[in-house]
Amino acid sequence: MGRRALKKLDPTLDLSGHLLVSRPAPPVLDAAGIPLEPKPSSAWDASAVFGRVAPLEIEVGSGKGLFLVRAAKERPDHNFLGIELAHKYARHIAARLARAGLSNARILSGDGLAFFRQLPDDIGLTAVHVYFPDPWWKKRHRKRRVMTEAFARDIERTLAIGGMLHFWTDVEEYFQETLSLLAAETKLAGPLNVAERPADDDLDYRTHFERRMRMHELPVYRAEFRKA
Ligand SMILES: C[S@@+](CC[C@H](N)C(=O)[O-])C[C@H]1O[C@@H](n2cnc3c(N)ncnc32)[C@H](O)[C@@H]1O
Repeated sequence: MGRRALKKLDPTLDLSGHLLVSRPAPPVLDAAGIPLEPKPSSAWDASAVFGRVAPLEIEVGSGKGLFLVRAAKERPDHNFLGIELAHKYARHIAARLARAGLSNARILSGDGLAFFRQLPDDIGLTAVHVYFPDPWWKKRHRKRRVMTEAFARDIERTLAIGGMLHFWTDVEEYFQETLSLLAAETKLAGPLNVAERPADDDLDYRTHFERRMRMHELPVYRAEFRKA
């Protein structure tokens, strides 16, 4: 299923309050010129970004931003950070957040996996959300998948005790592989079952992809995990 073109953005809309852009830091080399594994640092300061201390939820792969907008409205006492690799989608989300006047949500244009790599252990995330990540079917493209061993370990490392991972997909194989990966790489408790609930309105879905799958009566596989 292809993606519909994004609407043109209003050029007068100020995105600076909602759009963050991450550029990869130059690699640190050892004496022999070999890049060293990046170390987690405390460089990213959520309280400085949001101007307050509040429970932080991060979504990787925000797409058109339906989750971010709805969740930020529903939980005004939480801070939300979406991370989206495709810059034009990140700008589209920033425009939605700006139009909705949401001060508790930001979108970061960049790679969610690289961002998680440099988060400090003690950041204490309330939740991590990964919805309908691209399946990258071909073997040679598998390395582009979001759900990797390193990311699974970073999720566990950065969640607070009691923090939740939400993982949904329409691809049963990806779902089963992710459950096995999380069981092998982490001690997260789960999968906890998530029931489908009827939609109250045309946008009452977790994400655009969930809406699309349900409109086409295709299955959605949902799981939650808790850091015990
Ligand atoms: C299939 S779409 C799903 C979008 C949304 N979660 C939904 O359910 O409607 C997957 C999204 O993840 C983004 N993405 C893929 N790899 C990513 C990464 N490493 N970091 C951040 N975003 C990523 C893609 O650009 C794309 O917008």
